[in-house]
Formats: sequence, C-alpha cells, structure tokens
Amino acid sequence: MNAPFGIASPAFTGTRLKGLDFANRLSVAPMTRISATAAGAPGERMQHYYQRFARGGFSLITTEGIYTDKAYSQTYKDQPGLTDREQALAWRPIVEAVHAEGGRIFAQLMHGGALAQGNPHRPETVGPSAVRPKGSQLTGYHGDGPYALPREISDAEIAEAIEGFACAARLAIEVAGFDGIEIHGANGYLLDQFFTDFSNRRADRWGGDIVERLGLSLEVLKAVRVAIGPDVPLGLRLSQSKVNDFRHKWAEREQGAARVFEALAESPADFVHVTEFEAWKPAFEGGDASLVSLARRHAPRLFIIANGSLHDLDRAEEVMEAGADMIALGRGALVNPDWPQLTAKRTALRPFDLPFLAPISDIKDSELAL
Ligand SMILES: Cc1cc2nc3c(=O)[nH]c(=O)nc-3n(C[C@H](O)[C@H](O)[C@H](O)COP(=O)(O)O)c2cc1C
Repeated sequence: MNAPFGIASPAFTGTRLKGLDFANRLSVAPMTRISATAAGAPGERMQHYYQRFARGGFSLITTEGIYTDKAYSQTYKDQPGLTDREQALAWRPIVEAVHAEGGRIFAQLMHGGALAQGNPHRPETVGPSAVRPKGSQLTGYHGDGPYALPREISDAEIAEAIEGFACAARLAIEVAGFDGIEIHGANGYLLDQFFTDFSNRRADRWGGDIVERLGLSLEVLKAVRVAIGPDVPLGLRLSQSKVNDFRHKWAEREQGAARVFEALAESPADFVHVTEFEAWKPAFEGGDASLVSLARRHAPRLFIIANGSLHDLDRAEEVMEAGADMIALGRGALVNPDWPQLTAKRTALRPFDLPFLAPISDIKDSELAL
C-alpha cells in the first residue's frame, strides 16, 4: 500500500509506465478550459489550475486538448496550442509547477476536424468526407447553430495533419518538458471522424472497415513515436460517444473492439485511454464486457487508463479489477481537485455544482488556491 496516503485501496498503490513512477493510480482527465490567450498560449491562471490537481494528490494530469497546427486543427476559441516555440515555452511553467508538487503531466494533442467551431485562421472545416456532423456546436465554447459542412480533406492535407501531431509532440517533450503524449482519438474530433463509419465515407486507404478507419490514428502514433523517441510514454484516447453524438456505438461491437485493441497493441502506443459515460458498464447492448475489460483482454501489453463517472472509489476499484491500470477523473476532479487526499482521509467530497464548461477565469481565486 502507498504509505503517504495511508489507505488500503488498489487506487492508492504505486505504478509504472515506461520509465515513469506514479505514486497512485489517480489521474485527471483531459478537460478543455478555453482559457488561453488569443495567440494560443496558456497563462498563469492555468498554471494554478493544473498545479492544484498535483497538490491535491493526483499523480498524473492529462492536459486539455491542445491544437497541433496552424491549419485546421484549432477547435475552440481561446484553446491553447503547441504549434510553435512560443506556445511551447508558455507551457513550461505549468509543467514545472506540476513537477514541483511531485506530479506528472501528459499533453493531449487534438485536431478538431469537422467539429472545429472557433478557428480564427480558417473559417472552413475539413473532415474525412463532406458529411455534416450530427448535433450542434457547443454553446459553452462560444459556438452557435449547426456545424459547418466540412470539405473532404486531401491526401496532402492529411500528411500535413500527421506532421502537425509529430511537431507538436516534439515541442511538448523537448521545449515544454511534458512527461508523455496522449493523442486524442476520441469524442468526435478528426481522428474519431476517420474512425467512425457515419463520417468516413472514403474509398481510399483511409476508409474501409473498423481497423482501416483506425488507420489515421495508427499513422499519427507512428509519426509521433519517431518525433519523441522510444522512451517517452505515448497513448491514444478512444471512446464510443462523441461531444456531438452522445449515444454512438461501434457497429462492429465486441468483435470490432477486439480488432481495434489488437491493432493498438501492435502499434507504438504504450497506453490506451478508454472513456465511456459509465466505465464499468457493458460496452454493447446485450454483451457483458466493458470497454476496459475488452482492452485488457485484447491488448494485454498496453497500460490502460479508464475514464467515465469513476469519482466514487468503489466504482474506480471495480474498473481496476476489470483491468484498468490508472483511473481518470474529469468532473470529479474539477469539483474536488484534492480528490485523492480527501478520499484517502475519508473526508466528505464537495458536491457537483460547478459550471463545468466555464473558463478558468470563472473559477474563484479562493478555489484556484486549493
Ligand atoms: C469541461 C470539460 C471539458 C472536456 N474537455 C475534454 C478534452 O479537451 N479532451 C478530452 O479528451 N475530453 C474532454 N472532456 C471529457 C472528459 O475527459 C471526460 O471524459 C468526461 O468528463 C467524463 O469523465 P467524468 O465522468 O470523470 O467527468 C471534457 C469534459 C469536461 C467536463
């Protein structure tokens, strides 16, 4: 058991990923905060925001989704980027502040594709195919009305997008000092648009069956691995649901999931981050396996981060029992940035009453100082 926390729970035992040691199995899930400058640089308030999770006992923090190039990747107004040295240098104090508290921090890299709704450089959007995304723009992130009809991204632009992920990852490690890279392949953004049958109608090498549609994510993982070298932790986030299509399920069900996790186990990824609304539930109607247990079964080599309503310790332990190595808390960490410490002391947690989508400027100074 982990002595500093003094609680007998598997969530509070140490673990290791590549060369990194973690004091416990508790991490903060990536959460967009639309709180950067117009130039895409994170500032001092963001430093306090991230630092307090490490101070509160989370051993790993994954950043909000960070855009990767100056073409089509930026998704939201006031989203931070990692597209040049200035933006990367602005992340450095955040990384150092987390390290000073004994925490680790991974950069989540994302490309919005057809869900981009606040890119000042490009009003038009691109996607795998010219298919208008379901749902409507996120009003909490300055969006309004239906998504734009995307233009089909060209081969040359796909190559540029892959290169964007690789360059951003290199800046994240070499300039900002991040401990690892998470590629955002989930929640409806560009890589998930390629992965999803509804949005990917391509007949070329980027379309096809479920593993072929995972192809762009696999190519991004390869390019990023080359950019960051063999020793830096690298992983992919995957989901069924999307910010614009909450109920989406993989039509290929368990057999498809098996093929996806097998392909990932063969890829240069070290970890997979699976997110579901309730991570312990069966992934497919009529089945009994959760996405976590399918990942554990079909990708035994991979370190698994699990996310989805796990802010109750019993649920977190249940999902660890099913195969997760690390738990990620989103809303639970926002409300309780010191969730690990409070839970270890069996102290009551604060209730869920925050406006979750609000920028960091809306968090009270007293709460930011926690
Ligand atoms: C305010 C907010 C912003 C989010 N932004 C991101 C993001 O940038 N990248 C991402 O992969 N998921 C994002 N998510 C999803 C969370 O990582 C997580 O999957 C979701 O909150 C469910 O986990 P929970 O039940 O622990 O809250 C966001 C969620 C919230 C509440």
